[in-house]
Amino acid sequence: MNSAATTTSEWWRNGVVYQVYVRSFADGNGDGTGDVTGLRSKLDYLRDLGVNALWINPWYSSPLRDGGYDVADYRTIDERFGTTEEVELFIAEAHERDIKVIADLVPNHTSSDHRWFQEALAAGPGSPERARYVFKDGKGANGELPPTDWTAVFGGSAWEQVEDGQWYLHLFDPSQPDLNWENEEVRAEFDDVFRFWLDRGIDGFRIDVAHGLVKDTTFPDVGKVGKILESETTENHPFWDRDGVHEINRRWRSVLDEYDDRMMVAEAWVAAHRLPLYLRPDEYHQSFNFDLLATDWNAAEFAAVIDKSVTAADEIGASSTWVLSNHDVMRHATRYGLDAGIPWRQWPMTGPVEALDVERGARRARAAALVTLSLPGSTYIYQGEELGLPEVWDLPEDVLEDPTWFRSDFTEKGRDGCRVPIPWERSGDSFGFGSGGAWLPQPETFGDLSAEAQLDDPASCLALYRSAIAIRSEHLAEEGGFALDSSFGDEVLAYRRGEVLVVVNMGASPVALPAEAKVLLASSPISGSDLEQDTAVWLVP
Ligand code: NOJ
Repeated sequence: MNSAATTTSEWWRNGVVYQVYVRSFADGNGDGTGDVTGLRSKLDYLRDLGVNALWINPWYSSPLRDGGYDVADYRTIDERFGTTEEVELFIAEAHERDIKVIADLVPNHTSSDHRWFQEALAAGPGSPERARYVFKDGKGANGELPPTDWTAVFGGSAWEQVEDGQWYLHLFDPSQPDLNWENEEVRAEFDDVFRFWLDRGIDGFRIDVAHGLVKDTTFPDVGKVGKILESETTENHPFWDRDGVHEINRRWRSVLDEYDDRMMVAEAWVAAHRLPLYLRPDEYHQSFNFDLLATDWNAAEFAAVIDKSVTAADEIGASSTWVLSNHDVMRHATRYGLDAGIPWRQWPMTGPVEALDVERGARRARAAALVTLSLPGSTYIYQGEELGLPEVWDLPEDVLEDPTWFRSDFTEKGRDGCRVPIPWERSGDSFGFGSGGAWLPQPETFGDLSAEAQLDDPASCLALYRSAIAIRSEHLAEEGGFALDSSFGDEVLAYRRGEVLVVVNMGASPVALPAEAKVLLASSPISGSDLEQDTAVWLVP
């Protein structure tokens, strides 16, 4: 069922990668938290879905103050998730099913619980232990002011003062101190962490905050700081996208190249003209492209973003990546149910529920799947997207865990609404997530959206994804062969992929399809020869 992508080298170039937020995927031991046992029990489901690879969000020992992006030990699995031995078993079982495994590596910062940080606190100013992090004296007569005006992505100052008066840098939460990548000990440690997991069979790494790491060691004030989801355009920014990161990229690449067929994909929020630098032959194999995720439901805008991304990738011999949702953003089934222009990043806090058209969102999400799964390059699917899960935007405030909520003085709800545990069954305490409830409450609507409810329904979202991925490997796996087709008018996104013609009606009125064409797959039922609003179709001659 899988395409050749998993068996030839460069499997990542055109694969379907399924993102597993392990804490919310499936709970095997009944403690309310997803784990590797649960994940193993769903491997057949994932094989049947047809995915080529899994990207697993951080599963290392962690206090989970930022969902595991606060790593306390890079070489052990958090006991809530499993053990290293079980992860090795899982990797082998995934490989038996021709599925690759991509781990998430977080090199910009550790958890404040990491042994190194505890040693740094104990050792005091000027010590080699502190030199692994970014400690500085403060400004002001008594060092009572932070060293710079840098602000953290989750809000507030990026500096935290410790008992002896020094300050440490944290570009994210105070519980995530930034490592000092000028320090050779830090660099050597990560070479070793890479090898540790490569030796255990990991096929690739998703590198967190790949554009961070290197800081301007003169520590200038910045004046203004962008947030993680804004594209950074400031030249010579003191901590984002500094030229020095490329040397680190190359070092990691040479470690990966000691092994066969391994890859790394960058989470790099950088200006479009800077991204190719990360994809030079001796750096990353791939980088996330978040442009489509940030695009409103509009044919001209979709066409422009897709064309630009495909062209940019072609120019440097890279492959594109397509992402509609992940663990950091509002799920697209909900985003597409909002009117264009609604600031959805903050919307769960302030937006009126009347602004949400659930049916429209679900219909568009199905159509969007036929877009991302038919484009050249690799497509990343976020767990639950294949079930058409919506954002749980109305989680009660007392269950929220995202540091964004706390660091924004309770004005931004943050990202928990896209991390609600997956419904596997129609009914039951946690809709089959596990026998011990779910760490975030699931809405009643999850029963009908469960995998069980959809598995035998040929009209379900799950069936659509399964068919699309199967057809993709047969008809669309070849690289290249992309051309926009403007013959259907302004409100229709259309393009050719080899022999397949993809048509998406993003306008308000039905569109006539070519009479002679044969429908390979449609996102909603097609009656007659018209393509209805918010519907996508794959056609062959
Ligand atoms: C990006 C990750 O996707 C996000 O979840 C995390 O909070 C930040 N990096 C910090 O590690």
